[in-house]
Amino acid sequence: MSDSKKLAITGANGYLGKHTIQNAIQNSWEVNAIVRREEVVKELELLGAKAFVVKDFDIPLVIGNIGAPQLIKQMTKHKPLTLEDAKSALDMLNADLLAIHLNFVQEIVQPEGDTNARGCLRKIIEFSKELPILVKETGAGISKEMAKALKTAGVKGIDVGGLGGTSFPAVEIYRGQSMGDEFRAKLGETFWNWGIPTPISLIEADVGLPLIATGGNRNGLDAAKGLCLGASASGFAGRLLKPAMKSAKDVINELELIIEELRSALFLIGVKSVQQAKKQRVIITGKTKEILESM
Ligand SMILES: Cc1cc2nc3c(=O)[nH]c(=O)nc-3n(C[C@H](O)[C@H](O)[C@H](O)COP(=O)(O)O)c2cc1C
Repeated sequence: MSDSKKLAITGANGYLGKHTIQNAIQNSWEVNAIVRREEVVKELELLGAKAFVVKDFDIPLVIGNIGAPQLIKQMTKHKPLTLEDAKSALDMLNADLLAIHLNFVQEIVQPEGDTNARGCLRKIIEFSKELPILVKETGAGISKEMAKALKTAGVKGIDVGGLGGTSFPAVEIYRGQSMGDEFRAKLGETFWNWGIPTPISLIEADVGLPLIATGGNRNGLDAAKGLCLGASASGFAGRLLKPAMKSAKDVINELELIIEELRSALFLIGVKSVQQAKKQRVIITGKTKEILESM
């Protein structure tokens, strides 16, 4: 087995992608480049990378990703990302959608956080006029009011990214502590559980746009519950972190298990499609019911 470091890179044929590949190869990294167009394979192979064409993997939906705080002027010296930047990011990946993520609860805890939010919705409206935009949260959920505003803004879908799984304020506690910033670490503790739990957000944010259920999905059964609550897709981040720290094989095993759990759950309720799952009768009990009734 080779000891060399490995890099997997998307958007490999863009300006930044090519430079990254050149630098990595000069430093003896093995590079696997993922591209959407066959025409660029030769070019990347000449640089020394192995190139894989995404369509060979039959990925049904490719989503690019930028942060809402990066669309507006912040205290830092970084310039806001423009519509042109967003277009070239989409182009680079040949993505179907561009996700704009909301992560302000993380930004307030980060020592170097971008905490200006004024003008974000205006930017989302501006970008939605030109590009297929999905807006996503990253662990704090989307409220009904926000979902309505996003629909009016012209976004194509919402990933609720609700409370219940990865907590970015919690992640920032450890960063704060490692930087000796107890003040920020304490802020992180206070906001560890900030947000709208995923099931509640799925019900609240159902304003007629396609929804993605993420935030706290632990298995395929949770993914099925998200679909029955109205989502068109369910997603995982935290659950795949541990296997990803081990090997690609561990990630594949984990994904196969999740898919089998999802299939089994849908089989057990006699559901053959996502459309059918959405029409299932759901029973809501406990704290979730209590919260929904109090709203
Ligand atoms: C290691 C890690 C990196 C992430 N990076 C991003 C990112 O770059 N952009 C984004 O929109 N969300 C990002 N997320 C947030 C996830 O998309 C998701 O909204 C959140 O983690 C909740 O899902 P989970 O409970 O399954 O982790 C990241 C999550 C993890 C765990």
